[in-house]
Parts: sequence; C-alpha cells; structure tokens
Amino acid sequence: MSVMSALPFLKPMHVRTTVSPGRQRRHTLPASEFRPLSPQDAISVFEIEREAFISVSGECPLHLDEVRHFLSLCPELSLGWFEEGRLVAFIIGSLWDQERLTTEALTLHKPQGHTVHIHVLAVHRTFRQQGKGSILLWRYLQYLRCLPYVRRAVLMCEEVLVPFYQRSGFKVQGPCAVTVGSLTFIEMQHLIRGHAFMRRNSGY
Ligand SMILES: CC(C)(COP(=O)(O)OP(=O)(O)OC[C@H]1O[C@@H](n2cnc3c(N)ncnc32)[C@H](O)[C@@H]1OP(=O)(O)O)[C@@H](O)C(=O)NCCC(=O)NCCS
Repeated sequence: MSVMSALPFLKPMHVRTTVSPGRQRRHTLPASEFRPLSPQDAISVFEIEREAFISVSGECPLHLDEVRHFLSLCPELSLGWFEEGRLVAFIIGSLWDQERLTTEALTLHKPQGHTVHIHVLAVHRTFRQQGKGSILLWRYLQYLRCLPYVRRAVLMCEEVLVPFYQRSGFKVQGPCAVTVGSLTFIEMQHLIRGHAFMRRNSGY
C-alpha cells in the first residue's frame, strides 16, 4: 500500500452530496479537502503569497518559478487546504541535508536529506485567525511521521512568529544564517523521529 493511500487525513474530510429529483446522489466540490499540491496549483499559491508577503515586505519565500520548481520536484512535501475547491492555506517543503539552513536551502531540494525544510506556510487573509494555520501545520507534521526518511522539520521565521511555531512543538535553534535584504530570521526545528532513527542512520 502506498504511503498516500494509507493516510486517511489526506483524503477529503467531508464530501457534500446533493439529491437530484430522481433521488440519485451527485457529488459536488468537497467542502473541505487536504491534498498535496501540484504545479497546476502554483498560481493559487502565489496569489496567497503575493498578498501575505510581497504586499507587506516586498519579498516572499518562494517566487512563482520556485513554487513550480518545488511542486514539480517534491509535491509529496507540500500540503494544501481547499474549501469548495479553492486554496485557503498551504505548506511547501523540500528536503535538506545539513544541520542548519544556508542560503542554498532556499532554492535546493536534496533528495538524500532527512530534514524537511518548510519554505512557507501561509493562510489566505480572509481565513486567518481561525486556527487554520495551526491545524494545517499539525496535519503536515502527522503526515511527515509516515515518511520513513524524515527525521525532523526545520523552518526560518520572523521573531514575532516564534510563539506560534512553539505552540506546534517547534524549538528555537537560534538566529538563522540566512538573511533576506534587511530581514533576519530565527531558525526552528521539530523532531519527527527520535533516537531509534539516529541509531539506524548516520548523518542527516
Ligand atoms: C502566520 C499564519 C500562517 C498563521 O495562520 P492563522 O491561521 O492565521 O493562525 P491560527 O489561527 O492558527 O493561530 C493564530 C495565532 O497565530 C499567531 N499569529 C498569527 N499571525 C501572526 C502575526 N502576524 N504575528 C504574530 N503572531 C501571529 C498568533 O499567536 C495568533 O494567536 P492570537 O491571535 O491569539 O495571538 C497566517 O497568519 C499567515 O498566513 N500569515 C502571513 C504569512 C506568514 O507570515 N507566514 C509565516 C511564514 S514563516
């Protein structure tokens, strides 16, 4: 059985049906659905990023070509939350193979790595402050537990968001070596697998 088919939480949470006059059930768009993203979702992803980041700081974690790049290389490390078929929140990750993040981590996917680098988590502005960011992150971390090669998840965030990630179990690693313009970041990590994995595998 594939990893994806073994994961009920990646299947639609609820599928609405309507009853036609002939009393036959007809499926409509899922009210709420979690699924990995594909390159076809890149425009919707970038629309959310544009509002969330570019309109605020002029920068964003992933430009459109980078979104397409990662969704082509490692779509299984992304997760989108769709309501009525519309993207409302997403996470994009890739694999990394070093202890700490460097500038290279912003653009590379290291297929041999055991660390998931979460490039971006964003929620569409009309859906913020409703718990969606926390729920999506929780589901993503649960999903990563099913991927045998993943040992930990790391991310860089602005200091103001440290408490948000701490509530999901991330721990502060310290200042991040990566800066973007005048922006500085805190690096955080969440262990996915503990000592048993470390005994069986050396390195990252
Ligand atoms: C950060 C983000 C993903 C949180 O998602 P969300 O669905 O709004 O968050 P939740 O409803 O699960 O949790 C709300 C909590 O998140 C924290 N939070 C959310 N946005 C915040 C912000 N801009 N600054 C500081 N804390 C923030 C707060 O602790 C808030 O709780 P509070 O209002 O009681 O203080 C979302 O606000 C977003 O997409 N922001 C723009 C993009 C972004 O900054 N992404 C993070 C990149 S590292």
